[in-house]
Amino acid sequence: MIDEPVGVRAASEVNQETSGNAEVLLEAKGLARHYASRGPWGVERKTLAVEEVSLRILRHESLALVGESGCGKSTTARLLIGLEPPTSGTVRYRGRDLGSMSRPELLEFRRRVQLVFQDPFGSLNPRMTVGGMLGEVLSVHALAAGEERERRITELLGLVGLGPEAAERYPHEFSGGQRQRIGIARALAVEPDVIVADEPVSALDVSIQAQVLNLLADLQERLGLSYLFIAHDLAVVRQVADRVAVMYAGRIVEASEAAALYHEPLHPYTRSLLAAVPRPWPPSEKRREPELPEGSDPSELPEGCPYLGRCRHPERDDDCSLAIPLLGERSPGRWVRCIKS
Ligand SMILES: Nc1ncnc2c1ncn2[C@@H]1O[C@H](COP(=O)(O)OP(=O)(O)O)[C@@H](O)[C@H]1O
Ligand SMILES: [Mg+2]
Repeated sequence: MIDEPVGVRAASEVNQETSGNAEVLLEAKGLARHYASRGPWGVERKTLAVEEVSLRILRHESLALVGESGCGKSTTARLLIGLEPPTSGTVRYRGRDLGSMSRPELLEFRRRVQLVFQDPFGSLNPRMTVGGMLGEVLSVHALAAGEERERRITELLGLVGLGPEAAERYPHEFSGGQRQRIGIARALAVEPDVIVADEPVSALDVSIQAQVLNLLADLQERLGLSYLFIAHDLAVVRQVADRVAVMYAGRIVEASEAAALYHEPLHPYTRSLLAAVPRPWPPSEKRREPELPEGSDPSELPEGCPYLGRCRHPERDDDCSLAIPLLGERSPGRWVRCIKS
């Protein structure tokens, strides 16, 4: 696998144009994450889950990370929040490298950068009331006690559109959409400045998806939050994304300000993702998540451009199989990893 320094250099400059003087909260440079696994016949192989991923999340900004199942989105999220170390590359929060943070810095980081899961049910304690759970978070972080804590619990529930009576109830008494609201309330309890939301609406019915997306957009506005918003579907992030990064087989293949990307997608993969989006919004039925097809296992990709096997670019030719294309800036703020686009 090629780890060309030029590519890393180019990739590390992604979003440079859009950052200006804005405050960079979370920054990844040249992230890679490889997993060893046993394939058929016990043959050891390496999955390149994430390669050359560089991105920045600015204050008050929502960056969407989009790509089909298995392309490395959740792994990127885990690296960004420090749940596992990268094989190479760095993650910085407010300029401080996660790998060299002191314990107090790390605790502050863990508080300020919160994760919202696809299915919050798995992470909600079934034997604890919602109020008990939120109260516990507030106590653990010494954020509120006594009456102040009760007031804060009611306030958090209100923020996510639930009434105070929800505090007395248990997770199983809520619908999927309401549980996602509870998951969001729990993330908000510690007053984060970045929320990493990993497919937060993928498990919900389409009618409910729009409500939760509205809530997330509204909260961003009211609380001045930054999001890394992960989805497998470009339609879902349209409502919340300021910028979009599209991933394919572990790499970012296109990154741009959102409106430009929707208006004129550059990479053939982004085009196919947009073409796959049924137009009317909200769409009428739950869509199935697309998956990397047979043969696109990141460990079994073709020589050269990883997308070659599926590429419909009219100008694709033998040059495409020479090397993995670099992520290059086609016009200010528009990055694409394709030698023909
Ligand atoms: N802990 C792990 N061990 C081995 N392989 C993993 C692990 N986590 C993820 N992978 C592999 O890394 C690739 C990317 O996975 P993931 O980040 O979960 O993708 P996504 O969230 O986009 O669906 C997949 O091929 C997946 O099988
Ligand atoms: Mg995932």
